[in-house]
Amino acid sequence: MKPLFVLWTLCLSVFFAPACDRAVEVHRLNNRETSVSFTADRDFLWLPVEDGAPNAILSFSIGDRTIRNIRVALARERADYTVPFDLRPYRDREIVCRVSDCPYDAVCWELLCLRDQVPEPAEDPYRPLFHHAPSYGWMNDPNGMVYENGTYHLFYQYNPYGNRWENMSWGHAVSRDLVNWEECGVVLEPDSLGAVFSGCCVLDPDNTAGFGKDAMIAIYTAAGARQTQCLAYSVDGGKTFSRYAGNPVLTSERADFRDPKVFYHDRTGRWVMILAAGQALDIYSSPDLRTWHFESRFGEAYGAHDGVWECPDLFPLGVMGEPGHSRWVILCSLGVEDGSRVQYFVGDFDGKTFTPEQAPSTVNWMDFGRDHYATVSWNGLPEGRRIALGWMNNWKYANEVPSVAYRGCNTLPRDLALKRTDDGLVLVAAPARELEEAFVTTSVLPELSVAAEQNITPELTAGTGRIEMELDGDGAEVFGFKLFNCRGEYVDVCINRVEGMMYVDRSHAGRSDFSPYFATTRPVPLSRSEVHSFSLWLDRASLEIFVDGGEATVTNLIYPTEPYDRMNFYAKGGLMYVRNLKTSVLKTGNNDDEKYE
Ligand code: FRU
Repeated sequence: MKPLFVLWTLCLSVFFAPACDRAVEVHRLNNRETSVSFTADRDFLWLPVEDGAPNAILSFSIGDRTIRNIRVALARERADYTVPFDLRPYRDREIVCRVSDCPYDAVCWELLCLRDQVPEPAEDPYRPLFHHAPSYGWMNDPNGMVYENGTYHLFYQYNPYGNRWENMSWGHAVSRDLVNWEECGVVLEPDSLGAVFSGCCVLDPDNTAGFGKDAMIAIYTAAGARQTQCLAYSVDGGKTFSRYAGNPVLTSERADFRDPKVFYHDRTGRWVMILAAGQALDIYSSPDLRTWHFESRFGEAYGAHDGVWECPDLFPLGVMGEPGHSRWVILCSLGVEDGSRVQYFVGDFDGKTFTPEQAPSTVNWMDFGRDHYATVSWNGLPEGRRIALGWMNNWKYANEVPSVAYRGCNTLPRDLALKRTDDGLVLVAAPARELEEAFVTTSVLPELSVAAEQNITPELTAGTGRIEMELDGDGAEVFGFKLFNCRGEYVDVCINRVEGMMYVDRSHAGRSDFSPYFATTRPVPLSRSEVHSFSLWLDRASLEIFVDGGEATVTNLIYPTEPYDRMNFYAKGGLMYVRNLKTSVLKTGNNDDEKYE
């Protein structure tokens, strides 16, 4: 300990938390700062967190070297949950953690302790069963999705030290079936260039970047004083990454310059990067991922411009029923008045410039729910498939949603395609076909005619399952259904044929008091056909609706206080028929996949 350090020490206490493997020493330094010192002879330091408490700043050092700075809502009045700080890289070293902005009478000082295990994640009634969500901590955008030899890699914007946006890092999960996800821990944490914002991963079979044949290379935004693009590479299949010593590889004077998506463009034999630059998208090319050449800018006069553009993607996509025909598609996320949303553009791309087919003023929304954002697709999928995944949340209230030990989950992975309609080519999104395997049918109801109202009890399990059906509005002007529970909480899905609109109303779906923005709805334009097919995916705290094979999708979070287990069908101004109503639930025991070694 430095002499100055001792001088500043106002008092010294040693707390031996009773259930602890080993205690830490806590020294009060001054009114703002406290120091915690210990030998790293256990694997983890457990940090007690109080949801919503102001952040304390923790600066860990060994001797004169700072090893990590993090911001944590250390428990002041009560500990809501505990997060682990990984000490394994510093085995047996003497560590000092200087903590600023946490009062000396806070309860955390007695609860800090060293352990060899990670804390058990708290039970959460809203934890999804067939969607990806981290076991603890905060998650936003899916990042770095790449398919490698049967494994779907998913990285994501992650705060391992709390359930609100902070300490942006990349978490990692893998799956072989897109239903069961194995958490693999944190692979990239902030460095001197900044926090680790969104980005992508590519595989480099020809070693163009010089990090090794088949290296997995992450191209991400480091968010420090500037937003710059950086590389990190993995030669062990994504388990660990090393930073490229020549970072950053791409800089700009723009304040918002982020979220690179890179892919190999066969025709030009170059890597192509698309990234968000203010309210436009910049396209660069590179022979080696290290040096980038500006090619073009797209979007200044096109689409919606309510806010900064984020998380773009660019890929070719086949037209359904027209073998050999494809177009290029851009996905682009942005904040609009009621929160987060994804728009898309269809056009052509020659390796340098994207040429849209639509009129500049046209806006194409990818999803009509409130919780579908930062959607990007997997690189490297076989058979020309394009599977996309979004963050199932909305920046308007993401930090407030009522889950406890974790916050944030992803949408279902979706197979994308283009469909020719009277309005031109539209993007359709259907649940990835792998999901089919995970479900088993529990009941089939061939036909139900509804004169005014009728209730049924589909065989769901604990607020999860899938319901497929056709609704034939026949003579009805307004028809639809409610999913509801024993408390009378419901989601209302209402089709107004006169308007050619569908409305999904979650204002009575359960808890919505955490944000004034949560209960609002977005109208969904539907074809005026009287028959529509529905595929509903209910996973405790979310409802994803795919209408007419994915021509319209509606992705919403819901927080019922009891599981939904009933349906009410209604028709006004005429009869409605419900046909082929099939209920399926998740197969039990589908989670015994071999581990990712
Ligand atoms: C989108 C986003 C990205 C950024 C990341 C930071 O949700 O704002 O633009 O890289 O989140 O976490």
